Amino acid sequence: MSAQSKLVFIETFGCQMNVSDSERILDQLRSMDYMAADTPEEADLLLLNTCSIREKPEHKVYSTLGRFRLIKRERPGIIIGVGGCVAQQEGERLLKKMSYVDLVFGTATIHKLPMLLKEIESKRLRISNTELTDTIDPLEFSGATSNPGKLKSFVTIMRGCDNFCSYCIVPYVRGREISRDSKAVLSEITELAGRGVKEVTLVGQNVNSYGSRSGKGSFASLLQQVCKVNGIERVRFTTSHPKDLSVEVMDLFAEEEKLCHHIHLPVQSGSNDVLGRMNRGYTREDYLGRIAHLRRVSPGISITTDIIVGFPGETERDYMDTLDLLKAVRFDNIFSFMYSPRPGTQAASLGGRLDRSAKAERLADLQRLQRDITLEKNREKIGGIEEVLVEGISKSSATEVSGRTMCNRMVNFRGGMDLIGSTVKVVIEDAYANSLKGSYLRGEKIC
Ligand code: SAH
Ligand code: SF4
Ligand code: F3S
Repeated sequence: MSAQSKLVFIETFGCQMNVSDSERILDQLRSMDYMAADTPEEADLLLLNTCSIREKPEHKVYSTLGRFRLIKRERPGIIIGVGGCVAQQEGERLLKKMSYVDLVFGTATIHKLPMLLKEIESKRLRISNTELTDTIDPLEFSGATSNPGKLKSFVTIMRGCDNFCSYCIVPYVRGREISRDSKAVLSEITELAGRGVKEVTLVGQNVNSYGSRSGKGSFASLLQQVCKVNGIERVRFTTSHPKDLSVEVMDLFAEEEKLCHHIHLPVQSGSNDVLGRMNRGYTREDYLGRIAHLRRVSPGISITTDIIVGFPGETERDYMDTLDLLKAVRFDNIFSFMYSPRPGTQAASLGGRLDRSAKAERLADLQRLQRDITLEKNREKIGGIEEVLVEGISKSSATEVSGRTMCNRMVNFRGGMDLIGSTVKVVIEDAYANSLKGSYLRGEKIC
């Protein structure tokens, strides 16, 4: 650490987009002589990258800020900044409500952070800058964002969303959909590969419509080009919107060896009435058609989804349609949520709100059903051989390593540090709800 080094602690909530933004923030701060702190107590700068997708993550923001406030009481010289989707939504109001917050920055003003911090450091101003521009500032995406030694990296390929699903805050806090230039995406990935990254996940709120609004090419063609980058062994993407998932993209699962056999395809509900009121732009039948096509071209593909229960007006019948869809598709896993009204969204003013206990009951039942399906699907893997990219020492045992299969399942098996970073074949011997256990097939190091 140089004599002038300062420490920054970044707490991140929300989706991969926010994780990727926090990496970019850290990269920019490194050039200002900041280094990452292990705990907030030792930091000179405390940043909170926030999420407002539901009430719960929003509440976490306020409780974390409470913790930061206590630290500032002990060390008044530190700077506290709030970014991300709650910051975008609240703007100046956050500065007014919280006298200990020095900086509020938006989802599109991350590239201005060094300049804003310099002003705060030199003039002790309190600043809010949450402008939502409709172009991507080239500086916003300068350089590959990755710590040395990292095996996997998220790469943002687009920002914002134009879909306006009636329950969702994202279009309001991330602005209109803008795709990054494919040349910039490819050069970032090439740079990452040069630094030892082996797996990239292309990130956007609706990756399937990449390029469609700006003539920057199609998502299928971007994926093909990314798969050609030397040194990259695995390619993933998220999130796919079912209405924009093209046959070309689905067929790539059969054609591109590096493309991992996993797709996250949020369905939200199994009821056509509810899907209509959610403004999702597809029917249950359209969705099932996509699933059938995916399984035809890539029989073992792992499919995960998002479900919202208790959307306004959701009847028992609608809910049963969702359970029925889970049984029909047999997802490998799901993320499920109780509907949470978001300020300014269309659904927030719909009648027919369900009370919390009804939503909680539906959610618990749905999760029970899925737990059984997930376990069954994991057990189907027993006896099979999986290719695992070894990521590190297992959390549960120091004599085991862990990594993920092509279809994104976590596998633990006996092995040493020397395997970290390589892709090996593992025979699966046991299965649990969240992971698999196996044995390394010695001599079967693939790369
Ligand atoms: N862009 C992605 C999802 C982004 S948000 C897509 O279109 O699928 C991640 C998930 O949060 C959504 O898929 C949805 O299931 C959930 N979600 C979003 N808004 C919500 C709300 N108001 N209440 C409950 N869940 C919500
Ligand atoms: Fe939200 Fe819908 Fe956009 Fe996803 S596609 S971010 S759910 S508005
Ligand atoms: Fe949350 Fe914003 Fe992502 S609301 S889910 S952090 S785009």
